[in-house]
Amino acid sequence: MDTFEAIKTRRSIRKFKNREIPDDLTEKIIEAGMYAPSARNQQPWHFILVTRQELKEKLMKAHPYASMLREAPLAILVCGDTDLELSHGYWPVDCSAATQNILLAAHNEGLGSVWLGVYPRTERINAIRTIFSLPPNIQPLSLIALGYPAEDKKVPNRFNRDRIHINGWQIRE
Ligand SMILES: Cc1cc2nc3c(=O)[nH]c(=O)nc-3n(C[C@H](O)[C@H](O)[C@H](O)COP(=O)(O)O)c2cc1C
Repeated sequence: MDTFEAIKTRRSIRKFKNREIPDDLTEKIIEAGMYAPSARNQQPWHFILVTRQELKEKLMKAHPYASMLREAPLAILVCGDTDLELSHGYWPVDCSAATQNILLAAHNEGLGSVWLGVYPRTERINAIRTIFSLPPNIQPLSLIALGYPAEDKKVPNRFNRDRIHINGWQIRE
């Protein structure tokens, strides 16, 4: 699959087969996250792999739109480390880039995934912080549910010329 095809055909997948993800594949897609661009190349991320069902149950209580975690064999919590910040305030941007790399790499490997927003919702951040006993410098940014897909989704048409502005705010003629 070439890059553009992966970008266009990736969809949020919320139904998963009852099939484990091999450890080497998990590591490969985490590696893709670690190759994301980051401000001053500070790579301020950590990844918590969640496979235990009781932890996924706790996450479903902490997050109102995460019921697909029940069937997902793996969840990845992407966290920023403010102690690693050289440029203040960039950790959510860097960790978002890592999250997107993971979604695309997973899709390329035949896995389905969905990004579950955590940051900047304070209640979700605090609840997740408690579940994993995160130290104060570790900030949860996103949860990713992952597994072999049990649903098919079509490619929507999202190209929108009105959102392209040439040399300023004017709309293209
Ligand atoms: C920051 C962010 C937060 C999201 N949070 C959720 C969520 O809590 N639950 C969920 O099912 N999907 C969540 N999504 C997935 C979006 O609903 C999805 O990306 C969007 O509908 C577009 O569909 P697509 O991913 O198939 O292109 C989130 C996506 C982003 C980028």
